Amino acid sequence: MTFDVSARTVMERCDILGSYSEEPDRLTRPFASQAMRQVNEAVASWMHAAGMTVQQDKVGNLIGRYEASQAGAKTLLLGSHLDTVRDAGKYDGPLGVMIAIACVERLYAQRERLPFAIEALGFADEEGLRYHSAYIGSRAVAGTFDPEALHLTDSDGITMAEAIHTFGGDPDPRALQTARWHRDELLAYCEVHIEQGPVLEASNLPVAVVSAIAGQNRITIRFRGEAGHAGTVPMSLRHDALCAGAEFVLAVETGARGFPGLVATVGQVSVQPGASNVIPGQVTLSLDVRHQDDTVREQANRQLEERAREIGAARHVSADWQMLQGHCAVPCAPHLAELLSQAIEEIGYPTLSLSSGAGHDAATMSELTDIAMLFVRCRGGISHNPAESVTVEDVEVAIQVLERFLLLLSKE
Ligand code: GLV
Ligand code: MN
Ligand code: MN
Repeated sequence: MTFDVSARTVMERCDILGSYSEEPDRLTRPFASQAMRQVNEAVASWMHAAGMTVQQDKVGNLIGRYEASQAGAKTLLLGSHLDTVRDAGKYDGPLGVMIAIACVERLYAQRERLPFAIEALGFADEEGLRYHSAYIGSRAVAGTFDPEALHLTDSDGITMAEAIHTFGGDPDPRALQTARWHRDELLAYCEVHIEQGPVLEASNLPVAVVSAIAGQNRITIRFRGEAGHAGTVPMSLRHDALCAGAEFVLAVETGARGFPGLVATVGQVSVQPGASNVIPGQVTLSLDVRHQDDTVREQANRQLEERAREIGAARHVSADWQMLQGHCAVPCAPHLAELLSQAIEEIGYPTLSLSSGAGHDAATMSELTDIAMLFVRCRGGISHNPAESVTVEDVEVAIQVLERFLLLLSKE
């Protein structure tokens, strides 16, 4: 395949962004961190070079705007997130922003303007690494930001409000709850993202159209027992919070397997006081639950909550269940999915439609406008892992599909 220089540029830019991290030996880029500041600066310079005007909004999202051929036209939003998980790969999030900029860059180079304006959005937080509350960036754009979240603290005790302020934003709850756009002013939101699963590779295809995004919940479970001396308290008289937590982790695995299609993950465990000669007095666990069918997910949540309480009661340990956030399954707009399919076929590939188990900013943006998503093949389907990998050839296909999609939209 021959490809335009911009696919290589996208790859190089992802490499550069991958070097901005809060940790020396691995990629970890939380919300409103110094590494996010460096990323926003770099991405802003590329947006400028692509002919866009650039601003950073009240929560730290980066917004590049490319004007329409006529005044008063609607706006098409493109984008993804610029934050990462801990020990992340380079492409989850940044690839979508880089491909959006590459498309605008090609339009700009040809002096081409479309009958709608384009905004490329680099969301400040999608992963929820710093505050265990995901989609800070897209919620602020969509007007669904929960002001209670401003009081959440990170592991250093810094509130989200302070972090936003230090980052140069404005933690005014009313401003954060106000959508940046009225639905009528927008055409749609379209996000390009790595698949984060193995289906495209198995199908030998570079890209796929997303049909829907699974619903998900993030929950915190806290078991409180009694800390005590590891040498003096007999086994029969202990109220060990970690033993309750460990039993619950396995109950999550067994419980999830009882619901076809359900995925449930305990990804974080914190043990207090955390010393080798002290019986654990308190354990805090994160729980992530997802399914394409909201009824199944809700039923699984109820069952897992009941199991947590049963395990706690049997061990005389209290069990506290705190629902942090969630969203229902979100369908992509059928007419936009059709246009993406048409674009893929016109580029010369068969279309494949996939649903997404991963969460995406598009899920939040669906509360503001119609959404569309394009998946790009990633090696081994591996993601949330430094081994994340995409090929320059597939990136070129994704750029061409997005470009073709923009042209098809402009003819509607
Ligand atoms: C984001 O990557 C998520 O699906 O949790
Ligand atoms: Mn992710
Ligand atoms: Mn992502």
